[in-house]
Amino acid sequence: MDPKNDAKNTGRKRIAVIPGDGIGKEVIPQAVKAIQATGAAVDFTEFDWGADRYLRDQTTVPPDGFDTLARFDVILAGAFGDPRVKTNIHAKEILLGMRFKMDLYANVRPVRLLDAALCPLKGVEPKDVDFVVIRENTEGVYTDAGGVFKQGTADEIATQEDINTRKGVERIIRYAFEYCKANKKIDGTPRARVLMCDKSNAMTHAGGLWQRVFKEVSAEYYGITTQHMYVDALCMQMVRDPRQFDVIVTNNMFGDIITDLAAGLQGGLGMAASGNIHPKRTSMFEPVHGSAPQIAGKNVANPFGAILTAAMMLQHLAMANEADQIEAAVLEAVRQKKTTEDIGGMLGTREAGEWVAKRIAR
Ligand code: NAI
Ligand code: MG
Repeated sequence: MDPKNDAKNTGRKRIAVIPGDGIGKEVIPQAVKAIQATGAAVDFTEFDWGADRYLRDQTTVPPDGFDTLARFDVILAGAFGDPRVKTNIHAKEILLGMRFKMDLYANVRPVRLLDAALCPLKGVEPKDVDFVVIRENTEGVYTDAGGVFKQGTADEIATQEDINTRKGVERIIRYAFEYCKANKKIDGTPRARVLMCDKSNAMTHAGGLWQRVFKEVSAEYYGITTQHMYVDALCMQMVRDPRQFDVIVTNNMFGDIITDLAAGLQGGLGMAASGNIHPKRTSMFEPVHGSAPQIAGKNVANPFGAILTAAMMLQHLAMANEADQIEAAVLEAVRQKKTTEDIGGMLGTREAGEWVAKRIAR
């Protein structure tokens, strides 16, 4: 079976769905339901990769797994991580496997406030929180380079290496400028600024490379204003005045950290969407949150991060109209408080998802 050839024949897009673990299994069905409600010309194929499968037959990713995924148009993933798998090996092989082996180098995380009531900051309106973080997704400290020496002794040494390649740094910075050029803000005005976030004052070797490449690449983009902040200062600015941000580009670890902070401005992790993108390959979309084992299986997880992720994915598939329908329905749900408890409503995961799907189908 080659789903892409299939899709060429029918014009329908093929979506690989991997709900994964914990609340991933609860929120992803709601995202699928929202897509179906739009009537989008897509077909879903579900994969059972995750902790249950791993505990059953020791499979994390089947031998031909990534090749199989690469034949789909896009991947919709939930979350990976389960307390029964102490090593977290399955999550690493599945999630980091997709990001690293499929070379999905740009982790795109839009940060948007749908309703003032969701933001913990005083006097901040939806128009004030509308920026995007472009996180490098294939290198940095997440490559697992390093080691432990004399483990368990008083002389133990642990190293965790920060890998920054010229090619990797250049392509993510270029991606940020291209994103800035191609995308508008919610209010319709063009994006106009790219800010690089690093810690080049203390991490001089890697920071130096980022600084040089940023300067070089930015010279090719005349109309775009460039800015720079150290990551610590940026954290302070993000809660002091989120209005100042437009497009932020940063490394893998800083991107991980600042997007949790940014999610706090949007109403928490339950509201945050993301894409793991390689412009020329099969890309993967997932909510920012993890598997939240403490609340899993209770029908309380917020499905909107996953549903907004579905909208982002449809946008990527050039189904802008369907994507807009989903976003409008989520916005209406938030306004009418048809939401889960984490953002002030009284509905369960399923009920909130169903409300959105019905609204879309109206
Ligand atoms: P987490 O994102 O699962 O949860 C953090 C906090 O946010 C928890 O209090 C949780 O209840 C809450 N939360 C998260 N999503 C929510 C939602 N949709 N609705 C309502 N509340 C929500 O992160 P945590 O606790 O650090 O990790 C739990 C597991 O998930 C671990 O195994 C971790 O490795 C894994 N993980 C996986 C990720 C992924 O698959 N992309 C990302 C982050 C963590
Ligand atoms: Mg994270």
